[in-house]
Amino acid sequence: MGCKNIVLLGFMGSGKSTVGRLISEMLHMDYVNTDSIIEEKTGITINKIFGEKGEKYFREVEKTVVKEVSGMNNSVIDAGGGVVINEDNLNNLRINGLLFCLNADPEEIYKRIKNHTHRPLLNVSDPLRKIKEILKKRGPYYRKAEYQIDTNNRSAQDVAREIAGIYEKAFSKHDKFTG
Ligand code: S3P
Repeated sequence: MGCKNIVLLGFMGSGKSTVGRLISEMLHMDYVNTDSIIEEKTGITINKIFGEKGEKYFREVEKTVVKEVSGMNNSVIDAGGGVVINEDNLNNLRINGLLFCLNADPEEIYKRIKNHTHRPLLNVSDPLRKIKEILKKRGPYYRKAEYQIDTNNRSAQDVAREIAGIYEKAFSKHDKFTG
């Protein structure tokens, strides 16, 4: 089975990409991002996929990509914020991964994303309201991750260190090499 993956789940703007890159450096693991793979596969941006093909199509491609990355080893998997709504995705990611959910309050998320335009679901007139609405709906899904990590008022370094520490504790060197 090889070295287990670290799977980062959580709402848009919860810090998955920044934290994920840091963990991959700290633990010498590969870093993969499901959205980047989706963009490579389809040849268009996430915004365009949502705009031209719709969210349903996006979720189908996302599901295929999640299945592919679930088969990797020794990787930090930065999963799109909506991956959790599909039970199959979580089951696949669990096969060889530990699931961490990064949590942040709506106001904190808003602060982090307000100058970005690459997230179609938040390109609306009242993003904070939309964040609260989606967070409420997705709460039960995010809570399915075994490790819940608070990121409010914390640096990405600090969050990355916490996750790397949990991972190293869970898999001593011996376990890492015997699967
Ligand atoms: C989405 C999150 C995005 C991206 C897409 C949809 C979501 O990923 O997959 O815009 O449904 O929460 P990030 O969480 O990396 O921003």
